[in-house]
Amino acid sequence: MAIRAVLFDVYGTLLDVHSAVAREGRALGPQAEAVSRLWRQKQLEYTWVQSLRGEYRSFRALTEAALDYALAAHGFAAAAPRGALLQAYERLDAYPEAAALLADLRRKGIRLAALSNGDPDMLETGLRAAGLHNHLDAVLSVAPLRIYKPDRRVYELGRQWAGVDKAEIAFVSSNAWDAGGAAAFGFRTFWVNRTALPPEYDLPNTATIIGNLQELDFLPA
Ligand code: LAC
Repeated sequence: MAIRAVLFDVYGTLLDVHSAVAREGRALGPQAEAVSRLWRQKQLEYTWVQSLRGEYRSFRALTEAALDYALAAHGFAAAAPRGALLQAYERLDAYPEAAALLADLRRKGIRLAALSNGDPDMLETGLRAAGLHNHLDAVLSVAPLRIYKPDRRVYELGRQWAGVDKAEIAFVSSNAWDAGGAAAFGFRTFWVNRTALPPEYDLPNTATIIGNLQELDFLPA
């Protein structure tokens, strides 16, 4: 079945979450990369814990709490460039191939949406700043559902927007746990494995593994 719509994860997939520390993390010295990784890991952990508890706090609030933890864990509590890092998180870099790929797919008549844990205003600002917003037909946030990925209701939100069969919808994420959730839901799933991480969540059997977004150029196969 040909693909008629593509849903993109945002953080880590279209936008490089490590570009905030790359831009504003000089004061973190040799620990910068470790802080950035822990910041991301804690941010995701907090989304899962909130959802399991049946609670919801905005993605921005969880992102701030995660940064505070990552800085404290590396001994930066007082002197850290907290404000600059949080500002940079609102304007992350796009991956270099993202805009051209979105434009190509759109020229082929495929409808495109972002489907993300991000707050609606974070997504609007971030995707605009990265030059990607104009290439998307819709920006879908989990916020109205008050639940985070990989809850099935989030993927269902994307399906409802697309208005076609799950098998005609491609879902693209560089987050293995997110790709696994989308594949279990029934989307044609593409896992963007940029750094050759070991496979998990049964993705070799349930998804197509690609190295960057440009490899999606063959759609709508
Ligand atoms: C998102 C997170 C999972 O954009 O990266 O939904």
